[in-house]
Amino acid sequence: MIHRIWNGIRIGTRTVRQLLSTRINRILAWLAGVELGRGSLFYGRTTFFRSSSGGIRIGHSCTFKSAARSNFIGVNRPCMFTAHGTGQIRVGDRCGFSGTVIGAFSLVELGDRVRCGANTLITDGDWHGSDSRSGDPRPVKIGNDVWLGVNVTVLKGVTIGDGTVIGAGSVVTKDIPANCVAAGNPCRVIAQRGGASEQSGAASGATSGVELGANSSSDGEKTDASTP
Ligand SMILES: CC(C)(COP(=O)(O)OP(=O)(O)OC[C@H]1O[C@@H](n2cnc3c(N)ncnc32)[C@H](O)[C@@H]1OP(=O)(O)O)[C@@H](O)C(=O)NCCC(=O)NCCS
Repeated sequence: MIHRIWNGIRIGTRTVRQLLSTRINRILAWLAGVELGRGSLFYGRTTFFRSSSGGIRIGHSCTFKSAARSNFIGVNRPCMFTAHGTGQIRVGDRCGFSGTVIGAFSLVELGDRVRCGANTLITDGDWHGSDSRSGDPRPVKIGNDVWLGVNVTVLKGVTIGDGTVIGAGSVVTKDIPANCVAAGNPCRVIAQRGGASEQSGAASGATSGVELGANSSSDGEKTDASTP
């Protein structure tokens, strides 16, 4: 009984925090000149930075988890989306992010329903342009229904095909084809997957009951304890 009341209080306060966060983040995104689609949800404060020539475009119904406890798998930092120089960030619909950093100096493009696991980094550049050891930025493209595991890094020039899963902790330095499982450092294909029918259907980081396990089922079916 006490447990149920306590859970109810937690869900209530979480919902209020999430509503407030969403309002504030939408205003901050608008001030930063970000094109933000309808229905996105925010937990904690996401950083958006866009230089005057850069651009950030986010589709509909994306979820941004930036608060440390917004995802049980552990979020070490807020989501930060930054477009430098003429860099462009383009994100499709229904993508989920947990402590994800995206830094664009040329183009970082994500399709629809991309799940970005906790503390993922996606960047098309080396970040120290004034250092002669840095290479030129090269566009990154991540297809529809891609799932990046926790702590994945995607580096410049990489394309990841639709439906592919990238294993936890991988460093992706080269293109990875569609519909496979790839992992490691450097990331390599370790298995092929079936087509779209095998895919789970959503980076619905949009699930809101994650912290409290509210989306778990009692019927023993597979559930998401973590929705990036
Ligand atoms: C990639 C993944 C989905 C593969 O799971 P799986 O299909 O059950 O694969 P298995 O555990 O059977 O591993 C298959 C092989 O890949 C290797 N492998 C799996 N994940 C790996 C990883 N992250 N890095 C390196 N190698 C990995 C295994 O060692 C194994 O190698 P072997 O064939 O030589 O023994 C899973 O390992 C993974 O990384 N999940 C991500 C979880 C996550 O980050 N969730 C995010 C929530 S925010």
